[in-house]
Amino acid sequence: MIIETLKPKPFVKWAGGKRQVIDILINEIPKEFDTYIEPFVGGGALFFEILPKKAIINDINKELINTYLVIKNNVNDLIKSLKNHKNDENYFYKIRALDPEKLTLVKRASRFIYLNKTCFNGLYRENSEGKFNVPFGKYKNPKILDEENLRAVSEYLNSIDIEIYNKDYKDVCDLAKKGDFIYLDPPYYPINKTSSFTKYNKYDFTEKDQIELSQIFRELDKKGCYVMLSNSNTDFIKKLYKGFNIKEIEANRAINCKGDRRKKAKLEVLIKNY
Ligand SMILES: C[S@@+](CC[C@H](N)C(=O)[O-])C[C@H]1O[C@@H](n2cnc3c(N)ncnc32)[C@H](O)[C@@H]1O
Repeated sequence: MIIETLKPKPFVKWAGGKRQVIDILINEIPKEFDTYIEPFVGGGALFFEILPKKAIINDINKELINTYLVIKNNVNDLIKSLKNHKNDENYFYKIRALDPEKLTLVKRASRFIYLNKTCFNGLYRENSEGKFNVPFGKYKNPKILDEENLRAVSEYLNSIDIEIYNKDYKDVCDLAKKGDFIYLDPPYYPINKTSSFTKYNKYDFTEKDQIELSQIFRELDKKGCYVMLSNSNTDFIKKLYKGFNIKEIEANRAINCKGDRRKKAKLEVLIKNY
């Protein structure tokens, strides 16, 4: 049994992370379901809130998925490695410049967590060659190592029936069966051309991808799955999911053109087939 103080939580800060709207999401999940499937898992805010006993999680980001796997399979070595990092600008750029493909899986996960905790805003962004390019964050005392949480996450991942993939989301949606619950949290369709962050990696998520995703939503619905999807509150998205249950929800986002003032507005939609 997982005790309250050791409840695992997301181990990275993630752009588009759902922690802000988690109280709304948790009230919208189906009462009962078989496998929990999250094809765009990112930091896994809803996954760690639900803590399902049977799950399939996936993300196209190789570094992120390697980190989930290392936490599951080798948390002791990961913790040891994280102890060696320093919050120093020159050191940060040295670690950032390393080619992750040439590191051991543990060092690769350790580099990923270190960069996430010390880079500006905890963003993950890659340039067109697929290299992480966020600058040093200059934070006073970032928590590079949260040992208690990493152990809690590891223990949880080892206590459940879970499959963890690094694939395109479509391949993972193919695994869904009747009675499964699929939560789709893709890169959002932009509210306006400059405001939104849709490029998590060298693969962009285009309008064509949003259309394809809505077709997959319909296929999952036909299969008898429970499907819930988050996206931006735009006419384009609402048209794509016409006929389903669409709820507009409030979220804090920088919405004026300077991007420095934040206010609450119904900027997101939550779409369900149940
Ligand atoms: C809005 S974020 C998900 C945030 C997540 N719900 C959280 O709580 O942190 C979207 C995620 O989709 C992933 N992604 C983008 N394109 C993808 C694709 N084609 N297949 C699978 N994952 C993809 C990105 O790497 C990113 O982690």
